Amino acid sequence: MSRTVIRFTPSERWFHNSVMFTFVLLLVTGLAMAYFNLKGGDREAHNFLTDIHEIAGVLFIAVPLILFLTARKGVWGENWSVIRHFNRTDIKWLVKKPISSFKRGIDLPEEDKFNPGQKVWIYVALGGSFVLASTGVYIWINHSAILALFMHTATALFMTPALLGHMFMALVNPETRAGVTAIIDGEVDAEWAMEHHPLWMERHARERVATLARQNRALGDEDDPPTQRDL
Ligand code: HEM
Repeated sequence: MSRTVIRFTPSERWFHNSVMFTFVLLLVTGLAMAYFNLKGGDREAHNFLTDIHEIAGVLFIAVPLILFLTARKGVWGENWSVIRHFNRTDIKWLVKKPISSFKRGIDLPEEDKFNPGQKVWIYVALGGSFVLASTGVYIWINHSAILALFMHTATALFMTPALLGHMFMALVNPETRAGVTAIIDGEVDAEWAMEHHPLWMERHARERVATLARQNRALGDEDDPPTQRDL
């Protein structure tokens, strides 16, 4: 049986999956409303779509916010420590990665919990969601806010191809789709993780060794230091 490692905690999964469901619902209802606005159509259907869009919008903002604020200490710390750094090595990876798909022997910098491509998606998702949420609330209060409506629509349209790329990587690309279990039960295959996120796996192994050593010391078992077998 293959070994698995925990990639996402329940808070992280609820966070992602609530955004995933509400975002897709918002996109579908938003596009349908735009269609009705342009073509002119059934008022009742438009009102129904508006209600769904507004309810989904409230959940889109409230659920992740509550999860973020109530999460156990440390849950978001590791993610933050990875995504807050973006340097030359990340740029090198972004340049070399597309070349490596059709040319063998390209050496790519090793990946941490999130690779640079994922980091770019995280920035787009966070920034875009912030603009969508703030302009959405503004339009709700002030129906004639044309500039806010333009920004809201443009941001949704800008994010759509990025989201399709993200879905392609998660569901279709044979190299990465094994990671889809991360948002279902939080676990991924350890060998897959070692291949795709070696820096993350190495850090976890080091932390585990340190914890085991601490536990051994507390038990007064200093003659039996933890080994690879204990991980
Ligand atoms: C619609 C269907 C979606 C699917 C099937 C999906 C799938 C996934 C999967 C499998 C992961 C974990 C990948 C890993 O192990 O690192 C992930 C991560 C992530 N997802 Fe989604 N997701 C979807 C929608 C969304 C939406 C709507 C957003 C935000 C607007 C989003 C934002 C993220 C972010 C920021 C991450 C962490 C970075 C990354 O791994 O790419 N996802 N998603």
